[in-house]
Amino acid sequence: MKTVATPTIATAPVLDTGIENGLKRLKLSTIRRIAPELLITAKTQRWSPEEFLRTLIDAELVARDKSNTTNRMAAAKFPVRKTLAEFNIAESSIPQPTHDYLVTLDWIRQTTNLCLIGPAGTGKSHYLIALGHAAVTAGYKVRYYTAIDLVEHLYRATADNTVGKTIETLCRNDLLILDEIGFAPLDHTGCQLLFRLISAAYERRSIAIGSHSPFETWGRFLPDQPTAVSLLDRLCHHAHIITTTGDSYRLKHRTGGQN
Ligand SMILES: Nc1ncnc2c1ncn2[C@@H]1O[C@H](COP(=O)(O)OP(=O)(O)OP(=O)(O)O)[C@@H](O)[C@H]1O
Ligand SMILES: [Mg+2]
Repeated sequence: MKTVATPTIATAPVLDTGIENGLKRLKLSTIRRIAPELLITAKTQRWSPEEFLRTLIDAELVARDKSNTTNRMAAAKFPVRKTLAEFNIAESSIPQPTHDYLVTLDWIRQTTNLCLIGPAGTGKSHYLIALGHAAVTAGYKVRYYTAIDLVEHLYRATADNTVGKTIETLCRNDLLILDEIGFAPLDHTGCQLLFRLISAAYERRSIAIGSHSPFETWGRFLPDQPTAVSLLDRLCHHAHIITTTGDSYRLKHRTGGQN
């Protein structure tokens, strides 16, 4: 008589409850997820204990790095996604050697500043965001603001007397990007608030700014002359200053039909 093998139902391997709970308490979620399968692989392939442990730790570290980068990218609040790979350096007025240096991000390590000054469509925002994106990927904390949004944020803090705390929180970032400086004039308080931030970040954190306005015209939107001078003094003391020139990239690469 023929014997028929009883079909076995494959069940997913499970961890011992004590180990499972311990990993949960230690918040080692990747190890918890992969350990059951990996235990079987390690047993069948006769891995050494070190090899097994290293594989688990490496997997947890990779997952953590990835999730930390995702969190820092969201916290940076970039208005759009722009990368260095998408930036055509040959078409920009940024000198190649300057670009080669800036992409090393050494200037952030050295807490120096970056100022991009130039007319509309010359790639200032793209370049600032792309460098910010690269900095986040490299492990830095970055926050992007337009000048108007930043001053509004600081103005709100004056209402509940938390300007100092708000500025300290902003200075926890390694790089603060302040774009569109000078698009709208600031009043006396706005000027003071911007100064307080630049002063707090001075020689501690990197600030990267984008503006249409050459420094000598900043008095037009910073009404308080002595404050404007002190602000520029600190901003430019340790700074890479780049003037972006040329026609608007938007106009040169206009898409869409003609009406
Ligand atoms: N060198 C470049 N390579 C690729 N894309 C570019 C380059 N320069 C600009 N762009 C693109 O052109 C558009 C305008 O650039 P961007 O917004 O950076 O200009 P901007 O100097 O910040 O202008 P504005 O002063 O008006 O804010 C964007 O879509 C940007 O991605
Ligand atoms: Mg811009």
